[in-house]
Amino acid sequence: MSTPSCNSALSSIGKKAVMALTGLVLVGFILGHLSGNLLFFKGPEVLNAYAQWLHENAALIWTARITLIVSVIAHIVAGISLTLENRAARAGGPAVEQTRRASWGSLTMPYTGLVVLGFIVFHLLHYTFQSVALGGQTFPLASNPAFTDVHAMLVAGFSHSGVSAFYIISLALLSLHLSHGVSSTFQTLGLRNERWRGRLDVLAVAFGWIVFLGFSAIPVSVLAGCIK
Ligand code: HEM
Repeated sequence: MSTPSCNSALSSIGKKAVMALTGLVLVGFILGHLSGNLLFFKGPEVLNAYAQWLHENAALIWTARITLIVSVIAHIVAGISLTLENRAARAGGPAVEQTRRASWGSLTMPYTGLVVLGFIVFHLLHYTFQSVALGGQTFPLASNPAFTDVHAMLVAGFSHSGVSAFYIISLALLSLHLSHGVSSTFQTLGLRNERWRGRLDVLAVAFGWIVFLGFSAIPVSVLAGCIK
């Protein structure tokens, strides 16, 4: 028969597995979104053709949206539950929980996660619904007004230094969150052993930097006047 502390350890392993699996789905989306966004540097024709292709593939876009929504909700619910468990453990919970040592990175995860959530809400209102920070402007594509001129929308959006600063700060916190999340995933998968720990930690930090530099390059290039 299993003891209460065994049950608690097992349920926390289950929650960590949910965090890892949904985190991997979100990492996959972020890499896909980053690759698409980098077409910004190939010019309006290429970026707009890509955005139009995406919007014409309703099945693809809706499968991705539903997978994302389910993953984000499961990630948040498991994350809140683990955070509460860890707090209870630090306040003198079951002995098995007290053996855990929380690092600075893991302690900041709930806060960086909240910033990421706030950023995503703003970002959807900004570019998907085009209802904030664009001064009521619309961006119909000259060749087909049913679609958005995404390139022009991004240039207009990031021409506001306050909006760009908000994106860059949020992206820095998102990258911290991702970097620690990737490292925790390696731990959950049992890969972060003595032999691999160093290399996997470098990989997690490098991933955070790639996401930060890749996404930030867009607002920075607009603010610097390199892309108009
Ligand atoms: C500078 C950085 C970014 C730029 C320029 C950017 C650009 C865009 C654009 C233009 C859209 C609307 C696409 C369309 O409807 O055609 C969009 C949608 C979206 N972006 Fe971003 N994005 C950035 C960063 C991020 C980050 C870091 C995340 C996630 C953490 C993210 C998550 C999303 C989501 C969830 C959507 C909605 C997709 C949909 O269902 O239509 N974006 N982004």
